Amino acid sequence: MKKVQFTETVLRDANQSLIATRLPYDKFEPILDTMDKAGYYSIECWGGATFDVCLRFLNEDPWERLRKIRAKMPNSKLQMLFRGQNVLGYKHYPDDVVRKFIEYSIKNGIDIIRIFDALNDVRNLEVAIDETNKQGGHASGTICYTTSPVHTLEKYVEMVKDLKSMDVKSICIKDMAGIMGPKEAYDLCSAIKDAVPELPLVVHTHSTTGLAFMTYLKAVEAGADVIDTAISPFSGGTSQPATETLVYALKQLGYETDVDEGKLKEIADYFKPIRDAYIADGTLMPKSMATDTQCLVYQVPGGMISNLLSQLKMMNALDRFDEALAETPKVRADMGYPPLVTPTSQMVGVQAVTNVLQGERYKKVSNEIRAYCRGEYGRTPAPINPEIKKKILGDIPEVEGRYADSLEPQFEKTKKELGDKASCDEDVLSYIAFPEVAEKFYSARRKQEENHAKYSIVKMD
Ligand code: CO
Repeated sequence: MKKVQFTETVLRDANQSLIATRLPYDKFEPILDTMDKAGYYSIECWGGATFDVCLRFLNEDPWERLRKIRAKMPNSKLQMLFRGQNVLGYKHYPDDVVRKFIEYSIKNGIDIIRIFDALNDVRNLEVAIDETNKQGGHASGTICYTTSPVHTLEKYVEMVKDLKSMDVKSICIKDMAGIMGPKEAYDLCSAIKDAVPELPLVVHTHSTTGLAFMTYLKAVEAGADVIDTAISPFSGGTSQPATETLVYALKQLGYETDVDEGKLKEIADYFKPIRDAYIADGTLMPKSMATDTQCLVYQVPGGMISNLLSQLKMMNALDRFDEALAETPKVRADMGYPPLVTPTSQMVGVQAVTNVLQGERYKKVSNEIRAYCRGEYGRTPAPINPEIKKKILGDIPEVEGRYADSLEPQFEKTKKELGDKASCDEDVLSYIAFPEVAEKFYSARRKQEENHAKYSIVKMD
């Protein structure tokens, strides 16, 4: 009997996709013990936007959150999402920062690191994978899934073989927009399983377009070993499909799972009132839970459509929406068909709006698009349209080789600069990732500690 395993996303991706990562640690702590015994393959609980949001909005130290989860879940594999050379941010960091971040993520409790690059340029994954292996972690080599004339099965298989040669412990197909259909999933999973049968294959998608259940079923038929799901109250819409539903369906079809359905019910019962409270206070909007097939028509991910709308609204140009929407795939083609994921999705969307509103294409471009054309983000899937590249770059020279090779080491230098503002190496890493927010957070923390100390002294008197 073939076995299918589950990665539970409620603490990270479901939390991020439905309620902008606003779930504070205290709200989920009481259920961690039950989750630890539910029989999941792994629990995705860190990375992605959790780090930034902890510091910026929740007044939580993300490292502290990780240590607490680790202590409450001694039996589970804890998983994080890592943007390759971009770490948890939006730009490239020097190698020493990438390595330190991985080292401390593992030291503080992470087991599996899912490592991806927005352009699928494996040179941007190499250092993170190498350090994960050195630290004894599980590096999951990740493909960002997209469709274009250059994203063929052969190309994906080539990438998977590159990842294998870097000694990843599993392969993950990351369909961040929920655009992978059941046939595409079947074909891609079959091709990957043929190429690297010894590596576990994980599939990640979103319910946004409504394809996800069908996609997972066909992925499993083709040999996928692990699927990403969310406990039912935090499933559907822009999140993952429901864990319980897939366990039920796959068991009926004769697959074996390690998941304890009684525990799943307890977990669902726990999260239901939490979900309802987020609906009541407007944090969780009905729109996020609905099925949206627009992106199957326009080939633009759902999240980008709402970004386009809000940009145009700000510029009082909502009447140009159809033009901006039509321009988006054209910009993507000009840029060499990048997968649309953070940060390329934002860059392409903003450029499409600018092109339409300026009345001349690429008359104005963002610094990010210029850096992208220079090659700072890595190798594009197809060449950038040469005329447009020339118009954007003028005499600015292009990057040769891997961009991170030109970056000076940063960790020790920043540590010295911060002095006693940072109380440990983890503080230094938070500062490097998000300087302003981290600094604000640490000074608030210090004040709290000082007040606490004063209070203790008074009490002792
Ligand atoms: Co996702």
